[in-house]
Amino acid sequence: MQTRVRLMALVFTLVVLLAGTASVIAQDISCTVCHDDTTLITGKQTGLSEAVHGTGEAYVRGTSAGCAGCHSGGAFSAMVAQGLRPDQVEAGDPNPTRQDCRTCHAIHTTNTEADWALETTAPVNLYAFENVIYDGGKGNLCANCHQPRRAIDAADPNDNIAVTSTHWGPHHGPQSAMLLGVGGAGDVAGKPSFHSRMIADTCVACHIGPDMKHTFEAITSGCAECHGEDFDIDGKQAEVEALIVQLGDLLKAKGLLDEAGHPVVGIYPAAQASALWNYIFISIEDGSLGVHNPPYTKALLEAGIAALQ
Ligand code: HEC
Ligand code: HEC
Ligand code: HEC
Ligand code: HEC
Ligand code: HEC
Ligand code: HEC
Repeated sequence: MQTRVRLMALVFTLVVLLAGTASVIAQDISCTVCHDDTTLITGKQTGLSEAVHGTGEAYVRGTSAGCAGCHSGGAFSAMVAQGLRPDQVEAGDPNPTRQDCRTCHAIHTTNTEADWALETTAPVNLYAFENVIYDGGKGNLCANCHQPRRAIDAADPNDNIAVTSTHWGPHHGPQSAMLLGVGGAGDVAGKPSFHSRMIADTCVACHIGPDMKHTFEAITSGCAECHGEDFDIDGKQAEVEALIVQLGDLLKAKGLLDEAGHPVVGIYPAAQASALWNYIFISIEDGSLGVHNPPYTKALLEAGIAALQ
């Protein structure tokens, strides 16, 4: 009798052990939905290795609290998990990463295909402004980092604005604000571009597209649905480029911009400081030669030129 009970206990233990092993095997097999002989991962690694996200030009900035949320991939993931904004991150990341696969995707959280999910697609409250929300579908992921860090200061009682450093300006990557028609200086009223309203996934549609390109450069196939396969639609980019050159020359002549293209520290009439801000915003930081918001870009440049002539 006792032997039979022992035997049954043994059989039971064996069954439990076997079932355990089977589930371990099943879990191991799920790794191969990604880790297999296709280019699923390597095809993206190749594109990323050409992008500054992947080369990590400025990843070391991630060691400072004020920069970590956008410049370290690891700090970005932690920030998103804690529901914080980049200006609320309190500590730098001692071991910052590039913007790698784990920055944007939920890699190795369930170990299934579901881990390709984006870390966040929630609308983004642009923190340099009051009540400006970027709600551009999957492009919201990008807008967390590609948003300005500051708006221009208000003019003082003498209608002057101080240019306080050679890094003065909205900071790099204000593309989300440009798409919404905010972030420029002066009296120019902007509104969300048709691109931000008509293209559901905004940044992702034009910079990744249906082929899931991972160089993050803009892709002409993203325009084909509505225009030709070209960025310079109706010569708009060329027109914006000419306005940028004209405004840059005027700013240099007035001594607000140095030959290397850096702002010159000083106190200037508000309209001139605004022209300088908008030059930096468009030419140095936005980088789309007007495509993100053609009417707003053109209006800002023209107002700047008028203020300096
Ligand atoms: C959703 C797809 C996916 C699944 C499922 C997946 N991985 Fe990965 N794995 C990745 C990606 C993406 C990387 C990072 C590649 C890179 O950094 O270039 C990675 C990296 C790795 C690495 C290299 C070291 C590291 O952590 O970067 C190992 C080892 C690894 N995975 C093991 C596993 C194992 C074991 C499983 C199953 C338990 C698994 N993976 C499931 C996508 C996946
Ligand atoms: C975690 C923050 C973060 C996220 C999320 C992010 N970026 Fe970036 N992006 C950066 C940083 C930081 C740089 C500059 C990298 C460097 O120089 O080290 C950059 C650079 C770029 C560049 C290159 C700009 C140039 O001057 O060459 C493009 C294009 C770009 N990002 C597009 C995107 C798009 C599209 C998305 C969304 C799919 C996105 N980014 C998501 C932080 C981010
Ligand atoms: C809100 C997110 C955000 C914060 C916070 C932030 N950056 Fe950036 N930074 C970016 C993005 C996005 C880019 C890339 C912009 C582009 O190329 O269009 C960038 C680019 C840069 C670059 C240029 C890199 C290159 O390769 O040209 C430097 C330098 C830089 N940041 C320094 C800093 C420093 C220093 C801090 C902290 C004091 C900081 N950033 C905070 C988002 C941020
Ligand atoms: C800057 C953010 C960013 C980085 C870094 C990034 N991805 Fe992506 N990835 C995206 C976005 C956005 C999409 C489009 C998702 C969509 O349309 O659902 C995407 C799509 C994909 C897809 C297609 C997923 C699907 O559901 O069909 C794969 C596979 C992928 N990425 C792999 C990688 C790998 C591997 C790496 C690292 C070598 C990587 N990604 C790095 C943002 C990023
Ligand atoms: C209508 C399509 C479209 C949308 C939407 C869009 N972009 Fe762009 N973007 C472009 C084009 C086109 C360029 C200019 C490319 C060129 O002239 O080579 C550009 C340029 C850029 C650059 C400068 C690249 C460089 O090499 O200097 C960055 C960074 C960038 N976009 C990020 C973003 C982010 C982030 C978003 C969303 C907040 C976004 N873009 C939305 C089409 C788009
Ligand atoms: C979903 C449709 C759609 C997509 C996709 C799209 N655009 Fe547009 N685009 C528009 C609309 C609508 C206008 C406004 C046309 C007008 O006012 O005459 C416009 C206007 C423009 C203008 C200004 C043209 C002018 O004459 O003022 C440029 C430049 C432009 N788009 C570039 C691009 C580029 C580059 C891409 C791809 C990276 C792209 N667009 C993708 C819908 C789109």
